Amino acid sequence: MVRQDDDLSLPSASRRSFLSLSAAASAALAFRIVTEPMLAHARVHIFPKDAIRIDANENPLGPSVSAREAAAAIIPQGGRYSDYLTDDLVKTLAELEGLKLEQVRVYAGSSEPLHHTVAAFSSPQRSYVTADPGYEAGMHAAQAIGAKVVKVPLTKTYAHDVKAMLAAAPDAGVFYVCTPNNPTGTLTSHSDIEYLVENKPQGSVVLVDEAYIHFADGVSVMDLVKAGKDVILLRTFSKIYGMAGLRCGAVFGRPDLLEKIENYGGWNFMPITALVAALASLKDAQLVPERKRINATTRGQVFAWLDRNGYSYVPSQSNCFMLDTKRPAKAAIDAMAKQNVFIGRIWPVWPTYARITVGTAPEMEQFQAAFQKVMTGAVTASAGAMPSAGELGKRKKKLDGIVIRA
Ligand SMILES: Cc1ncc(COP(=O)(O)O)c(C=O)c1O
Repeated sequence: MVRQDDDLSLPSASRRSFLSLSAAASAALAFRIVTEPMLAHARVHIFPKDAIRIDANENPLGPSVSAREAAAAIIPQGGRYSDYLTDDLVKTLAELEGLKLEQVRVYAGSSEPLHHTVAAFSSPQRSYVTADPGYEAGMHAAQAIGAKVVKVPLTKTYAHDVKAMLAAAPDAGVFYVCTPNNPTGTLTSHSDIEYLVENKPQGSVVLVDEAYIHFADGVSVMDLVKAGKDVILLRTFSKIYGMAGLRCGAVFGRPDLLEKIENYGGWNFMPITALVAALASLKDAQLVPERKRINATTRGQVFAWLDRNGYSYVPSQSNCFMLDTKRPAKAAIDAMAKQNVFIGRIWPVWPTYARITVGTAPEMEQFQAAFQKVMTGAVTASAGAMPSAGELGKRKKKLDGIVIRA
């Protein structure tokens, strides 16, 4: 049912926050937001036909049936801003999580609140602390505003080393904890995050990114938000809900913290297709458990195959994992691409590993066949390898649609 919201005498939560933007908002930071597809597709951004795309942690299932139907049905209303739908989503999320409305904001994806949190709480005087390997987007935001980036290796069990993070940056403004972590798919325990929150320097925040939490058995730290701690929590509809292209995310936190974030990016109207698709997804009680099961089954099959063949990887609870290619990983990435299988990127701290996104079962069978050929030497990067970026630029038409960015 479509509701009208034309009565300006009743400002909605979203309109109120729009009207209350401070002068700081008009001087909002203008820097380029770096997102997963920009990181993932830094080299290849137009894929050949029938490419296996397991490079960007996307969900091959896409939006659920009910989300698709809701998005299609709202299109005739596309001439209206309809910000009451934003309020509906905020209200639904607040109810689901047991929070007050003022503790929830929605955005077109979680990338914006991630970047704006970094902008709001780190500075040239206050460092940004992150795991290594970890999701790089916040690091780029920190660099853009001149904050020092402190990278701390994961523990032996691939959790965030919260004690080392605390010790490494007594001047921290933001501690970024992604759990499950991108790229390793490994969890950091609730008690470790709690320890970080209790022992961090005054004035800093712990930014917990739960983009992949629905795939895993980990415990959310939403209770720390509820308890009014210095925690900002991110969620997205891009992963288990399969809505990366529709763009919807949410940030949860104490109202004073959320206001600070909002001042750095302002507030904008949400795409109504994303809002109704998110609302429909949340109403579908089977969606998360069903997709979690599908992902875990396919991932388990891939891990069993890797084990049988003696290949090394980091066991993950998410839709991605790190695979040891036993060579500079770029050679393996290129040799896979020659077979039309596009795997993920490299983190400099682990130069022989590449990140693999868990695709559909048939896609992962193709991945396995291609990886076997790389590991046995049947296909190499050098014998008929992917041409260099420069060469490809000249020859791109011949390459069946592959374009490499210079
Ligand atoms: C850990 C993590 N956080 C945040 C994001 C941002 O996602 P989006 O802006 O699509 O919500 C991503 C995207 O892949 C991610 O991996």
